[in-house]
Amino acid sequence: MASSEEKLTKKEIFRAEMKKVAEKASKMKPEELQFKYKGILYPSLLCSEATFQAMEKLEAREDDVFIITYPKCGTNWTIQILHEMLFELHNKEPTLDQAMLEFGKPDKYEYLNQQPSPRVMSSHITYENIPKTFFEKKTKILLILRNPKDTAVSYYHFSNNNPVLPSYESWDLFFKDYLSGDVIYGSYFDYTLQWEKHIDDGNILVLTFEDMKMDLPKELRKISDFYGLSLTDEQIKKVHEKTTFKSMKENSGNTHGNLGNVFFRKGEIGDWKNLFTEEQSKELDAQFEKYLAGTKLGKMINYEKYCTF
Ligand code: A3P
Repeated sequence: MASSEEKLTKKEIFRAEMKKVAEKASKMKPEELQFKYKGILYPSLLCSEATFQAMEKLEAREDDVFIITYPKCGTNWTIQILHEMLFELHNKEPTLDQAMLEFGKPDKYEYLNQQPSPRVMSSHITYENIPKTFFEKKTKILLILRNPKDTAVSYYHFSNNNPVLPSYESWDLFFKDYLSGDVIYGSYFDYTLQWEKHIDDGNILVLTFEDMKMDLPKELRKISDFYGLSLTDEQIKKVHEKTTFKSMKENSGNTHGNLGNVFFRKGEIGDWKNLFTEEQSKELDAQFEKYLAGTKLGKMINYEKYCTF
């Protein structure tokens, strides 16, 4: 187990790095904060072409946890859940630093290869860009979906409050880019639809933000079963207590430094109603109809229930 001094040092390093990145970002023009790689926009202070190319070096393991999401669909929530579950089981912190697969320096994969199991990794990259090693090793993948309207609103606030992302002068401008897929990590719809043909490949569990919000213990049990963790009811209860929005927000200064309130903003279903106009809502409905209506993932998103005024 890492000693508390060691943990403190890692935390301090993390905060110092975040501060440095934020300072750098404040001197950059909005267009410099993003770059395109293979047709998709990425945050230039977090990702690089060299890191994408080095990703091939990662050696996946059967017992890795790999969480995949479009941004703002509950990535940090799910990472924390897995972290708490593995902590309950092993009484030690899983390998979590460098968790976002595509963030950081190219040598991170050599570092990750040397870390002990269990490792928790996550990513927003598209299916095609996921290193083949994950499929060869049959790593279990956890895909988290969130309804596209709340995702948009969450993404808008995040873009305006996270210094490493380009900010928007208005919600209307963000909405336009979100709809056309001209945002970091590309279109929500393309991203979600690409998974449709892979969800029955095996080794993939799909959960939704909304189901997690409505009945977290039930979804925690699904995660435990999927990873074969056999957590007791008592352990599920403990994980639940630590991963409610309230607990995570209260602890966010520790986990996310001064960006705590940016990552843990409202944690609700339906906040989209505070920003969407009637017309924007209809435009997004049309997009959903075009891409996801009638698909298995579209059904899981439960659009009627969560995206109607
Ligand atoms: P809001 O901006 O709507 O509040 P990601 O981690 O993928 O960036 O997702 C961030 C979103 O998940 C934010 O949504 C955040 O508040 C929400 N979130 C994080 N932890 C949560 C929790 N324990 N319960 C509910 N929502 C949570």
